[in-house]
Amino acid sequence: MTTLHGIDDLVVALRELGDVLQPVRVAATLRGVRIDARTLEQFLTWAPGRYTRNLVARDGAFELIAICWDQDARSAIHDHADSDCAFVLQSGAITCENYRVAWPDAPGSPRCELRATTTRTLREGEIDMRSGHLSVHRVGACDGRAVTLHVYAKPIDACTVFDEDGTTRIMPSRYDTVPAVV
Ligand SMILES: [Fe+2]
Repeated sequence: MTTLHGIDDLVVALRELGDVLQPVRVAATLRGVRIDARTLEQFLTWAPGRYTRNLVARDGAFELIAICWDQDARSAIHDHADSDCAFVLQSGAITCENYRVAWPDAPGSPRCELRATTTRTLREGEIDMRSGHLSVHRVGACDGRAVTLHVYAKPIDACTVFDEDGTTRIMPSRYDTVPAVV
């Protein structure tokens, strides 16, 4: 198990993966990683009942985001555009609810068939990985507050979100906080 001591070390390790981040190498970089809370603290912000997205680093190849999940906060059901996504849990517990999506008309049409499949609970140091449009899930805190570190390669500017009935819409990505120097 790898342990990195500062958030800057993780950014350097990700930059060393090159211009096109291979998911297997991102997974190897994130798995088991625990960041010294003193270096992560500056990126953590909290909002009642929801999660906040706090940019840590971004370039053409990837973005690294610290997500702070308030108690019972959860994401919309979403895909991952054309990117690969991996995250590692830093504190708390996170539930991932997975969905199978089928498009009776055409991929990207306004309505799809959505079916819940598996659910998994992550503990500290564990990772979850997703790729692209067919990888659909909902993520949420399940035991008080949680902090996760997400790598999107390439950065995601918008993804598809799904209502339970299969209605879809495009949701632009946004950050709650951005560092002075990215
Ligand atoms: Fe996701």
